[in-house]
Amino acid sequence: MTAASLFKSTARNGLQPVDLGRHLGGIADLIELCFGAELDAGGRGLIREMQMLSRAGPALRLVQGLLLSHQPWNLGYVWVEDGRVVGTVSTQRAAPRSTTWLVANVAVHPDQRRRGIALALMRATLDLVRSQGGSEAILQVDDDNLGAILLYRRLGFGRVTTRTAWVRPGHAPAPAFQPSPFEIRLRSDGEWAAQLALAASVQPEGLVWGQALRPSDFRPSMRQQVEQFLSARQEEHWVAVDPQPAAAGGPNGLAASLSVQIGAPDGDRLTLLVQPKYRGQLERALLVRALRRLGHRPWPARIEAHSDDGALAQTLGDLSFQSGRVLRWMRCGLR
Ligand SMILES: CC(C)(COP(=O)(O)OP(=O)(O)OC[C@H]1O[C@@H](n2cnc3c(N)ncnc32)[C@H](O)[C@@H]1OP(=O)(O)O)[C@@H](O)C(=O)NCCC(=O)NCCS
Repeated sequence: MTAASLFKSTARNGLQPVDLGRHLGGIADLIELCFGAELDAGGRGLIREMQMLSRAGPALRLVQGLLLSHQPWNLGYVWVEDGRVVGTVSTQRAAPRSTTWLVANVAVHPDQRRRGIALALMRATLDLVRSQGGSEAILQVDDDNLGAILLYRRLGFGRVTTRTAWVRPGHAPAPAFQPSPFEIRLRSDGEWAAQLALAASVQPEGLVWGQALRPSDFRPSMRQQVEQFLSARQEEHWVAVDPQPAAAGGPNGLAASLSVQIGAPDGDRLTLLVQPKYRGQLERALLVRALRRLGHRPWPARIEAHSDDGALAQTLGDLSFQSGRVLRWMRCGLR
């Protein structure tokens, strides 16, 4: 028997599969209430859009329903009390055809907490994912959100990694040059496969939550160049190469890389990938090289770092980065 059938609902109350045509406004209001303080500008914009869409008149409802059925996060469950959405959980595949599913927007109205609503919503959602052939579900949660972490542990989720978001404010001074025994330089086009292999070997480090590792993120292409030109964005990849190639895993082995995406709306984005045996030896030199090349920037630079890496935290602090949100990624196997 599935969790959904255990919590059979009346027409208006209890557990219900998400129907964005009916529940969109309620979900948006609940997310705003539960996560308002944490939402960035993009998230707040999305909530406003959801609220506006939900107020569309009857003439627009048919079109709206068709559009919404193709939206990301359109699967999941809500809990309804007196016709009002008081609990929600959303899910979607990590990538087309992936058997990894992401779970997000887990929220219950403050007046309705500790009644087992989140547990019921999550169980129904995991059943749904299983029924779609999902092999695992992953989610992220603030590392100090002990209530939610206990909830997820009860459902079989375990920690995958914990990541701290660091921000270097605009106008921070350029760091002093840092000599290094490693060869540090911009990646040549031919080295993209070696960088992809490095990323595959150290993931989930380097992954953006919810995004699978994609060769196209590393492989230079005309399409990528056109896209970057049109969006006024730019990307650079720095690599660190061991002067003794055999030590780094053969002639194509990279000890580390640092990707810099320039021109994102919230500042420049850095992604650091380091082979475990080189940790602590080259991060500072790589970061300094990239930051010096970026020069004096009026906008911030952002990087995510493994929260357990004290040496990297020290380096980032020395380079004027400030630590922010700490997020734990959790995983639950479903087979
Ligand atoms: C986290 C949240 C979704 C839990 O919803 P809920 O409906 O109250 O959770 P449940 O009643 O189903 O709790 C199930 C179990 O999870 C654990 N749990 C849930 N909230 C807890 C809390 N605040 N403190 C300790 N344990 C908690 C307990 O083991 C609980 O079982 P118990 O009540 O028998 O002890 C809710 O507190 C919420 O919306 N918080 C704000 C948004 C948020 O942080 N979402 C998670 C984002 S990743």
